[in-house]
Amino acid sequence: MKYKTIIEPFRIKMVESIRMTTEKEREKFIKEAKYNLFLLKADDVIIDLLTDSGIAAMSSKQWSGMMIGDESYAGAKSWKKMESTIKDLTGYKHVLPTHQGRAAERILYGCMGGKGKTFISNTHFDTTRANIEFSNAEAIDCPTEIGKKPSAKHPFKGNMNVSKLTSTIKDKHQENVAGVILTVTNNSGGGQPVSMKNAREVSEICKKHNIPLIIDACRIAENAYFIKKREKEYKNHTYKEIAQEMFALADGCTMSAKKDGIVNMGGFLALNSQKLTEQCRNELIITEGFITYGGITGRDMEAIAIGLEEVFDPDYLQYRIASTTYLGKKLVQMGIPIMLPVGGHAVYIDAKSLYSHIPVDQYPGQALVCNLYLKGGIRSSEIGSVMFGKKEENGKRIYAPMELVRLAIPRRVYTQSHIDYVIEVFEQIKKEKIKAKGIKIVKEPKYLRHFTAHFKFI
Ligand code: F0G
Repeated sequence: MKYKTIIEPFRIKMVESIRMTTEKEREKFIKEAKYNLFLLKADDVIIDLLTDSGIAAMSSKQWSGMMIGDESYAGAKSWKKMESTIKDLTGYKHVLPTHQGRAAERILYGCMGGKGKTFISNTHFDTTRANIEFSNAEAIDCPTEIGKKPSAKHPFKGNMNVSKLTSTIKDKHQENVAGVILTVTNNSGGGQPVSMKNAREVSEICKKHNIPLIIDACRIAENAYFIKKREKEYKNHTYKEIAQEMFALADGCTMSAKKDGIVNMGGFLALNSQKLTEQCRNELIITEGFITYGGITGRDMEAIAIGLEEVFDPDYLQYRIASTTYLGKKLVQMGIPIMLPVGGHAVYIDAKSLYSHIPVDQYPGQALVCNLYLKGGIRSSEIGSVMFGKKEENGKRIYAPMELVRLAIPRRVYTQSHIDYVIEVFEQIKKEKIKAKGIKIVKEPKYLRHFTAHFKFI
């Protein structure tokens, strides 16, 4: 008998208590945090859906790995284990450890980029874009048209727009295009997957033009899940085989192990090119540490090696995607507008449509983020005009094309009843939606303002 209930495929051995708060207390906390949820104390949050990065619960196997971490400065056993796991998974010849994803990006794109160079991606994650631009190169996003429409259904909304990729290579001249980056799943595009067919097409275009293809592999296992379920010819492949096939289409990858590595800290970059590896190693030594530990401890390297195996467990992946889908489906049934279909690591609410009475210059996404905290102690993140909009020198404000709110689900942290609680809070949000007020920015820094800006309800 096959039962329809998908259970969390783990038992809980260690718990972390959640401090319950009242709406009255939360009114005070959020006021003190200037209506910016990054400025809240984590202890004042009931359900933390700010990110799925670095807050996973490690398994007992990973914790036991921590105990045998080899902390030798050079050539540690734990490094060898992490290196061989990554070589087996990616097939790339060289692996460089880093303290997290953006360190891998800074090193790699610092070496590949520079003035006059261009990178093209399905969507650059914000740290990827920042590191490319920091090297004085340019970052161009080529998502598909359907990927930009929140309610449009398509199995692979994270795909690269291949005709736009080709025309951009032509416009920029292929010798100036330093690299093509495929982000799987496409985080900024709604956590949507990229198909193998699309990856193959992108790879062929890159080969034809002699441009390196790099995979941002943060959520490669979740992407493999969607390929197995949605691309017929992969239905009998294992998740790991699918990931391996995708890596084989590219010349290297960066990965924040804080996502599909199921650890709290760590990352790496892996490459085939000997020349580029040597350049990156020199950079690595200057800022991260010796080439056999990067910025991570031996015990963390053990945990990454084990996490990268566990993440491909079919029971784990089924539970993982089922829990995100469960939340998304319930919200749809309730009539909350979300980005469809539900992605891998998060549910994205279309705040512009939910709060259609709040104009974009009053930040409907930030209003929803604040109300979710006030009503239920839920912390989420605004992915709209607060994050991507800006104030120009002449004071003119630029707004983002979408006003989304991300409910990112940490790995192995919350159970179904936590998610049911989130759903109940949304019922209240829906009841009170007409009363919801807009928000104004009262203080903002020049860069990455969403982290530190101060707000006020209008
Ligand atoms: N690439 C993608 C697609 C990411 O989602 C992230 C991080 C990074 C690179 C950078 O990795 O944080 O280890 O330096 N995303 C987190 C998030 C922060 O909340 O989505 P990092």
